[in-house]
Amino acid sequence: MKFPQDFVFGGATAAYQCEGETRTHGKGKVAWDDFLAAQGRFSGDPASDFYHQYPVDLDLCRKFHIKAIRISIAWSRIFPEGVGRINQEGVDFYHRVFRECHKNGVEPYVTLHHFDTPDTLHKKGDFLNKETVEAFVQYAKFCFEEYKDEVSYWFTFNEVWPVATNQYIEGTFPPGIKYDIPKAILSMHYMMLAHAKAVIAFKEGHYSGKIGVIHSLETKYPYEDNDADREAAKKEDILANQFVLDATFLGEYTDETLTTIKALAALNGGSFDPDAKDLEIMKKAAPLNDYLGMNHYQSHFIKAYDGENDIHHNGTGEKGTNRFRLKGIGERMFKEGIETTDWDWLIYPQGMYDMIMRVKKQYPMYKAIYITENGMGYKDTFDDGFIDDAPRCDYINKHLKALKKAISDGANVKGYFVWSLMDVFSWSNGYNKRYGLFYADFNTQKRYPKCSAYYYKMVIDNRDVIE
Ligand code: BG6
Repeated sequence: MKFPQDFVFGGATAAYQCEGETRTHGKGKVAWDDFLAAQGRFSGDPASDFYHQYPVDLDLCRKFHIKAIRISIAWSRIFPEGVGRINQEGVDFYHRVFRECHKNGVEPYVTLHHFDTPDTLHKKGDFLNKETVEAFVQYAKFCFEEYKDEVSYWFTFNEVWPVATNQYIEGTFPPGIKYDIPKAILSMHYMMLAHAKAVIAFKEGHYSGKIGVIHSLETKYPYEDNDADREAAKKEDILANQFVLDATFLGEYTDETLTTIKALAALNGGSFDPDAKDLEIMKKAAPLNDYLGMNHYQSHFIKAYDGENDIHHNGTGEKGTNRFRLKGIGERMFKEGIETTDWDWLIYPQGMYDMIMRVKKQYPMYKAIYITENGMGYKDTFDDGFIDDAPRCDYINKHLKALKKAISDGANVKGYFVWSLMDVFSWSNGYNKRYGLFYADFNTQKRYPKCSAYYYKMVIDNRDVIE
């Protein structure tokens, strides 16, 4: 079997990670601006200067037969304060980008929220505050109407669980809070409510395009084949995967999900009692989703853990420094025989296959899946314009093989996007964790195709992987 002719091969980006010009051209502040400045390690400027380089990047897409790009709109470029006043320069910028996409035969797949809530709303509690939910819906409606002739594929949120865990459990995203599981749960719930409201608005607007949400779905396996580890893996899966999948496809939480979530909230000194009216809205929206975006990088092997919360994020690429232990849930383990990246992400394509098949089985109402991100963070070396990133080619090839198997086993997967199209800024790792098919020299902003760009073109042209 080859990938079908209508299977989409794309490259992914996100506004804050590639655009640069974070505080100019009328763009409003996001929490990241101060958060990164306070850390003093790196900043979102200039990133890959997509604000100016987009014609170059889209021309590269055309040359390398990449017919789709994931782009996110920076909410605060459109509404600098999150609501109210519109920044016309920002509105026009995305018109120019979308026009350039179409000129190059590249379909834009557009995300409305990729980790960058405007600072005014962030300061009021971000998605812990329903005011942000309402502001997001206004912003979404504005974009649907404004870009209706240029955008056919929309995603509301990029990765509800990672936003919540990084903000309130791992503390690597602003506001940098650690171990507050109840806050993470509530903010996921409100993001899913905002998603539901935006989907309903989109459908009521009778736009001709399609809409869905993107989740980062990482398969959780028991570390050892025993009851305690099985239970630990199950709990982490419910918190990270099942909670948002239930919200997406069922518009409510199953008893199994609620029991675990309530117990985890209680264990951490909080509670979770979703409002019945909000659940009605989520239930109405659930069947309206046109597709699910699935980001997949790694899987986890979980061992039962009774100790205190203890997380250390490997943000430097020093192998073996990652630690993730959650009280009452479990500990993520390395597993013999399973390779890791320098940032300790387990390379396990079977996890992608298993997750796709799990969604198909557990949520048979799903309509289609796009793999909206998959890729390998790697310390690329630049040798006079030659970038040999063989491990990345191997990573992508293995994951595409797993994907092919899922498709031939009946899963309706419509597309695959490499993270990232060109090198971009990595939120908590900076500029030396590169993912791009195209190398970005962050000083000159010149682009250089890596070996993986040539490899990907071959896959696209042959509509097949290397067996
Ligand atoms: C995804 C995000 O979770 O992972 C991207 O959608 C991110 O924005 C990517 O860059 C890789 O993560 P990291 O931390 O290695 O940059």
